[in-house]
Amino acid sequence: MTELSESPVLSQCAVYADMFGFRHTMKIAHQDETKITRTRSRLYALILSVLGPAQLAKLYPYLQTRLERLLDKELSPAQMHADGSLCLPLAETCRVMASRMMGLMFFGEELTSNPAFSKAVYDHPQQTVRCMALFQLMPRVISPLIHTIVTRRGAAMKLILNLFMPIIDSETKNWTEPAGLKELTLLDIFTKETQATRDYWSPETLTQALMGLLLAASHQPWEILHEEIRTAQETQPLDYQRLTQLPLLDSFMRETARLVLLDKWNIRRKALKDYTFTDGTPHVPVGATICVSSYNVSHDPATYPDPETFDGRRFVDGNHKDSTHRYADVSEHYLIWGYGSLACPGRFHATLILKLALVNILLRYHIRLEDPKMQSHWMYEAFSMPYESTKVIFTPRGTAERCNK
Ligand code: HEM
Repeated sequence: MTELSESPVLSQCAVYADMFGFRHTMKIAHQDETKITRTRSRLYALILSVLGPAQLAKLYPYLQTRLERLLDKELSPAQMHADGSLCLPLAETCRVMASRMMGLMFFGEELTSNPAFSKAVYDHPQQTVRCMALFQLMPRVISPLIHTIVTRRGAAMKLILNLFMPIIDSETKNWTEPAGLKELTLLDIFTKETQATRDYWSPETLTQALMGLLLAASHQPWEILHEEIRTAQETQPLDYQRLTQLPLLDSFMRETARLVLLDKWNIRRKALKDYTFTDGTPHVPVGATICVSSYNVSHDPATYPDPETFDGRRFVDGNHKDSTHRYADVSEHYLIWGYGSLACPGRFHATLILKLALVNILLRYHIRLEDPKMQSHWMYEAFSMPYESTKVIFTPRGTAERCNK
């Protein structure tokens, strides 16, 4: 697995460029692809996984305030039915929440308060995924046309680029985002880290890289959990450190990710030349894609006894043979983040957003599916996709308790 993950001949970037049609959506210079992508990977790893956790602790209060405002607005008592509950489409609600929270983390308060910008940030990753699906079905020659139609001539990207151009051109000095949050945003950090290499990192390249990152960030994947969270914040409000120390929450999230995989195949690499693994097999011809079945790994009964059963306490009770047990860990028995030096550097950012959203929702609401028997997802090739029709019912905790009395 390490050889598959690390060999320079087996390219991660080439696989995703094929899948997402980046040749149409992003003007990546392909002549020196391997060198450029390795440099980019190092920059992502430095900013996200090395500097990231310290930044996340400082970002925490801004994210918490944004989430509270979002919940007050979207799930306010004024919108509740007479029985005090509210029924919302699950997939769309998750997407909107993730986009608003990630938007703050990436671009700060001022830009994301602009409705046109916020809409563009919400639309762009979805349009890219829609293009990806259509590129697989249609002949390659019409890919540029599909891209033009789906993205409405790249309207979202153009709007975002117009707003970023003066910010990046001035090395963020002209950006009126108030100090405090400004220095914590990925737009500010990436602009400063790339200042010395502005020839390559033009405003356009940087904007495309940030929107590519946002696409990477747009993945989507209960009473005992509420009890753990409620008890943890009884003594003092949760902060970043304490949020990372809720074992049951981590266990539930990891078990969910283990059982319902976003992607059944991970560590995809495309052979840039013919390649034979050091022990003689397998042989990968140039142009072929090789990957590991994350499904087999996470459903292996030798590592996870009774693998088809959801056991939310599995990683608290030690009912597994892996040496790691946390949601954000990387391990050969748990591949949701990939493996090796290219494993997802944004995993700490993703984990914080998911935990914040879960904790705040569970503290405020009882949640249940409108139809508990419905299928949770469908498969598109190796990807689990949520049904847009799935609805979830939110009942504010006080209300449900009053109704039950
Ligand atoms: C639940 C959410 C997420 C999941 C499941 C996920 C999963 C993955 C996986 C499987 C890979 C490929 C690893 C490999 O090929 O070995 C990857 C790569 C990557 N992810 Fe994530 N990711 C998530 C969220 C994020 C976020 C929030 C960010 C940014 C803030 C991000 C940034 C990246 C980047 C930059 C790469 C490419 C790494 C490189 O080229 O070195 N991801 N991610």
